[in-house]
Amino acid sequence: MEDRFGHRISYLRISVTDRCNERCRYCMPVELQEWLPREGVLSYEEILRVAAVGVSLGVRRIRVTGGEPLVRRDIVPFFEALCAIPGLEDVGISTNGTLLANPLADGRSTARALADAGVRTANVSLDTLDRETYAAATGRDYLDRALAGIEAARAAGFEKIKLNAVLMRGQSEAQLRPLADFAHERGLLLRFIELMPVSTGDVLTEANFLPCAEARRLLEAEFGPLERRPEFRTNGPASYFEVPGRGQLVGFIGAMSDLHFCESCNKLRLTCDGKLRPCLGSHLEFDLLQEIRRGADDREIAEFIQMVVDRKPKEHDFRDNYQPGRKMIAIGG
Ligand code: GTP
Ligand code: 5AD
Ligand code: SF4
Repeated sequence: MEDRFGHRISYLRISVTDRCNERCRYCMPVELQEWLPREGVLSYEEILRVAAVGVSLGVRRIRVTGGEPLVRRDIVPFFEALCAIPGLEDVGISTNGTLLANPLADGRSTARALADAGVRTANVSLDTLDRETYAAATGRDYLDRALAGIEAARAAGFEKIKLNAVLMRGQSEAQLRPLADFAHERGLLLRFIELMPVSTGDVLTEANFLPCAEARRLLEAEFGPLERRPEFRTNGPASYFEVPGRGQLVGFIGAMSDLHFCESCNKLRLTCDGKLRPCLGSHLEFDLLQEIRRGADDREIAEFIQMVVDRKPKEHDFRDNYQPGRKMIAIGG
């Protein structure tokens, strides 16, 4: 599938729930806690059907997100079914990590069960290694659980584990080096993410914004000049730099400041309430749930997906005084 601007769409990001066991300030502020009614959320069968049709159209990678995907019931069998779709090359999960170490009835950790199902990459949110800062940022005193989750993921045999740290002025500066060291010691790929206006929280202010370029300068003050490594790419929009002297790569996801950010976009998003979104930073969305529940067959679903791809914008609207319309939590990042 290609859009009007030559973006080849091969990556589908699926949010399976809007619920979460944490309350990150930039994603889901405490005052906003109404969940979607259960019948408004796609069933696993419906998601698997969309995924399979997507694969028939050229989707090769799927990342499952939330909310927190691991709070949804029977998520492991869902991953097993997803990973079994023929033609799908790569399934990943984005998680806050706090539930990865939880044991299942058969004694395996959740992380192990996911890896056994065929999930290849786990992206785990970790904004800070300081317990108090973590509790303040996420609304939960769960740093230990997140760290245990990361250990469980390391023991589980994922092909790759990435750490995601959202940059917040006043909070992140002192954490850049500890996070870089933490990732380096464990062989994990760390990425720093610019704050995006995708929640309705009051933290999304200019004063809290810390650009990637500044984070890079702060890291350079610690480590010396970082070298750009344009040839190294993951599936998403991160750009990578090498930390001198230790071969560590650190990624930056600068949706707000990187003017070329959208050029390599390869994504479609499916929200947990069944809307297809051609771009995270655009209000465009199309109601696939309604289409499915009116009885659309696979060919009609395929045409619907193609129609959404045809409407994919050239780039996001974040720089044009974008007003967030939906919480990040329902879109899944
Ligand atoms: P990989 O496939 O591992 O490279 O992951 P990813 O970066 O696509 O996924 P992840 O769930 O780890 O997302 C990290 C952050 O990058 C989240 O804050 C996402 O919202 C953001 N992000 C990922 N893709 C896009 C994108 O296409 N546009 C924008 N604006 N942000 C994105
Ligand atoms: N800006 C940038 N990243 C965000 N995330 C959640 N909300 C925001 C925001 N407002 C990130 C999480 C997680 C990923 C899936 O999305 O930290 O790493
Ligand atoms: Fe939950 Fe992730 Fe949102 Fe934090 S960023 S509230 S962990 S979904």
